[in-house]
Amino acid sequence: MTLEDIYKDFKEKDKAAENGGGEKAIAKQKKAGKQTARERINMLLDDDTFVEIDKFVLHDSHNYNMQNNRVPGDGVVTGYGKIDGRIVYVYAYDFTVYGGSLSRTNANKIVKIQKLALKNGAPIIALNDSGGARIQEGVMALSGYSEIFNNNVKSSGVIPQISAILGPCAGGACYSPALTDFIFMVRDESYMFVTGPDVVKTVTHEELTKEELGGASVHSSKSGVAHFVGNDEEETLMMIRELISFLPSNNMEDPPMTSTRDTNNRKTPDIHKLIPEDSNIPYDIKKLIEEVVDENYFFEVMPQFAQNVVVGYARMGGKPVGIVANQPAYLAGVLDIDASDKAARFIRFCDCFDIPIITFVDVPGFLPGRDQEHNGIIRHGAKIMYAYVEATVPKITLITRKAYGGAYVVMSSKESGADINLAYPNAEIAVMGAEGAVNILYRSSVGEDRQNALNEYKELFSNPYRAAEKGYIDEIILPENTRFKLIQALEMTANKTASNPPKKHGNPPS
Ligand code: HXC
Repeated sequence: MTLEDIYKDFKEKDKAAENGGGEKAIAKQKKAGKQTARERINMLLDDDTFVEIDKFVLHDSHNYNMQNNRVPGDGVVTGYGKIDGRIVYVYAYDFTVYGGSLSRTNANKIVKIQKLALKNGAPIIALNDSGGARIQEGVMALSGYSEIFNNNVKSSGVIPQISAILGPCAGGACYSPALTDFIFMVRDESYMFVTGPDVVKTVTHEELTKEELGGASVHSSKSGVAHFVGNDEEETLMMIRELISFLPSNNMEDPPMTSTRDTNNRKTPDIHKLIPEDSNIPYDIKKLIEEVVDENYFFEVMPQFAQNVVVGYARMGGKPVGIVANQPAYLAGVLDIDASDKAARFIRFCDCFDIPIITFVDVPGFLPGRDQEHNGIIRHGAKIMYAYVEATVPKITLITRKAYGGAYVVMSSKESGADINLAYPNAEIAVMGAEGAVNILYRSSVGEDRQNALNEYKELFSNPYRAAEKGYIDEIILPENTRFKLIQALEMTANKTASNPPKKHGNPPS
């Protein structure tokens, strides 16, 4: 063969390797409304930046005559590329090859990429579409999962790990995403379950569709497994790009600065009109957040799950911040089990990656009742406290209205370690609301006596001054100065150094 023939042969092999499971399987994938693994990667990354590695890897399984069906790449496409000019590592399961199932061989490819991402300090993004462990391989496939999970855990808190679910994800295919930081799903096209509808029917006699069992709507609103849902694959992948824009590449890097047209001292007068005078009337905290942040843009995380707490990213003066806020417009902003889990995990992620946290507090307390108590509100609620105390990033708190009881304490109070605590003049900081307190302190009082007791309590606690007298509130601010004051506090804490006592690791409540 001449050198030219060798090059030609290589080009043919290279092209053939991109054909995955073949035309028929690709047509089936398309018919299901899904893109191929390489199309997805190209959609996700900046144009012409994808570098594929291990394209010619073949499985070495002999069971079920599998030697006669070996596809180059073995059903997972791996490599690296760029998002907004920054390096990311990526791997995508190819459902056209053995249903995107995990073999020991393609697990090795994933492990190689995971190790490269960790060593070189860049985010890793997994595009999942997989039937789980390759059944024909038995324990070999299981060992592949073990090693992937092992790397997921080791990478946790060092590099951002992101999972997109772009088709069915069964069995082991769910656990790697569960060990990563963020899960994205596609509406009506992606499913996650440990065991599929057939197994469920056999074991529990429940008849459920894939969507009912583990569709995007279930995982984004009920189970809390998914953080984001896109309407189609393209929107989902664009959301991943957007998330990456807020994150540093690793835990040693600062979050990326962006230039902004917004001014730091912009007044926020509309907040005054947003918060009703009667503290029992709800308002939408997201409107307040949008009023305050750069260019009014807030990128919400888990918008459908535990809506009584709002978490997400925004920028202040061009710098990414994590926002945690009670939502008075949903269950009066009360903290319950799901809200506690949601907030705590978000806080811990921000802390891992040096993203300052701004907390907006308007909370009547923890949700009372048998359901919450029996399901462990005590240990779940404790997670928020643990996460805030453990976090060494700048922590700025603003009480916009109510801050009652345990919920006041856990929502980044001064003594829990917040750096700057602000409050509006209408803030109410007390063990509980006036009605509840009078019911306990003056149980038998009625009529005028009761009204006097209510007035006395409100006089004492329906303001921020008792807390300010003790230094638990650093500054009382007007709503119109909110943006400016928060940016001042962020600037003041920008070079914060703090650390926790040396330890192997803590033992957060779970
Ligand atoms: C090998 C698999 C496979 C698997 C699917 N295929 N899953 N091959 N191992 N795990 C193959 C199918 O045989 C089929 O091949 C092709 O992929 C497409 O699958 P379909 O069933 O035709 O697709 P669809 O109807 O869309 O259904 C997708 C599915 C279903 C819901 C994922 O295939 C399914 O239920 N698969 C099994 C899921 C599962 O139980 N996996 C093992 C989990 S245990 P042909 O040749 O016909 O096109 C596990 C343990 C790990 O993962 C635990 C670690 C903690």
